[in-house]
Amino acid sequence: MAEGANNNDKTGLRSAVLGVGAYLPAKTLTNADLEKMVDTTSEWIVQRTGIQERHIAAEGETTSMLGTEAAKRALANAGVEAASIDLIICATSTPDYTFPSTATQIQAALGITHGVAFDLQAVCSGFVFAVSTADKFLRSGSHKRALVIGAETFSRLLDWEDRTTCVLFGDGAGAIVLEAQPAVADGRGVLSTHLRSDGRHRQKLFVDGGPSSTGTVGHLRMIGKDVFRHAVGQVADVMLDSFAESGVDAATLDWFVPHQANARIIDASAEKLGIAPEKVVKTVALHGNTSAASIPLALDVAVRDGRIKPGHLVMIEAVGGGFTWGAAVIRW
Ligand code: UT7
Repeated sequence: MAEGANNNDKTGLRSAVLGVGAYLPAKTLTNADLEKMVDTTSEWIVQRTGIQERHIAAEGETTSMLGTEAAKRALANAGVEAASIDLIICATSTPDYTFPSTATQIQAALGITHGVAFDLQAVCSGFVFAVSTADKFLRSGSHKRALVIGAETFSRLLDWEDRTTCVLFGDGAGAIVLEAQPAVADGRGVLSTHLRSDGRHRQKLFVDGGPSSTGTVGHLRMIGKDVFRHAVGQVADVMLDSFAESGVDAATLDWFVPHQANARIIDASAEKLGIAPEKVVKTVALHGNTSAASIPLALDVAVRDGRIKPGHLVMIEAVGGGFTWGAAVIRW
């Protein structure tokens, strides 16, 4: 079995997607707005990243508030009650507080008093890591129905005088509802997940603060070129492993929904794997890089506009700080 493979059919269960939801804060910050704040141009931002605008959380609007709204929308889309959820995993690198976790805040906001809720931190790969983790809980039979959330307020980590980073990121949240169901041939659900990390790359993408080092929140710092190279170069391994384990390939895949960091990274990754451009879901123009929230935000758009339909084969994929990276194949 390939490294990181999760295929374990002992319980005969599979994690099926019941619904998806997303939420973006009301305030938008356009490239034209940024031209007034730092030495940049809309042309540079669009040409290098594909980003047109990003959303910024209002004062007092926290990650758990964004996550709660996305979770409510995912529950409504799934047609299930909050009380039926027994597992909440919130992927975030911008928690409301150092502790308690953002997931427990969302659990309380949804009125859920049973089951378990916890945060998962893998930066931009967080949602893929959370899907993989929830899948393992559900297929083990220990939990029945999960909310998997990616929620971020990256605007709070940005150095608004650093043009090389502040134009790239935004705030938002997305969520899916997963349910343990008996696996049937050609059935719906998470077919494979593969995760990787390599901590040697800390200096290429990090936040220069934290409770145990500086006692401050800190600011995001990045060597963009190095992250770009890694994102396009190394991520292919988890995608190929996920293809191999699920028996899916670039030709049979219906939709590629990667982390929305940069349109050029997305295009180059798809091209490298031979995925046709018309199968690529790209929403980065609308919300910039929202870290762990970007994949469920993109899934929500593509489900609502009718592209992703039940039965379709979807690959999600992300690269983030650490470095961390991962991919999953899901039959919707
Ligand atoms: O989710 C994972 C997190 N991060 C990422 O995915 C980001 C990965 N990296 C990238 O997307 C790209 O590397 C960037 C979009 C960040 C930068 O694009 P690039 O083509 O790698 O540009 P660069 O860093 O090589 O910068 C080119 C030039 C530099 O000027 P000089 O040194 O050539 O004179 C920069 O100073 O562009 C300049 N520059 C800007 N100019 C206008 C950097 N930021 C800006 C800006 N506006 N905002």
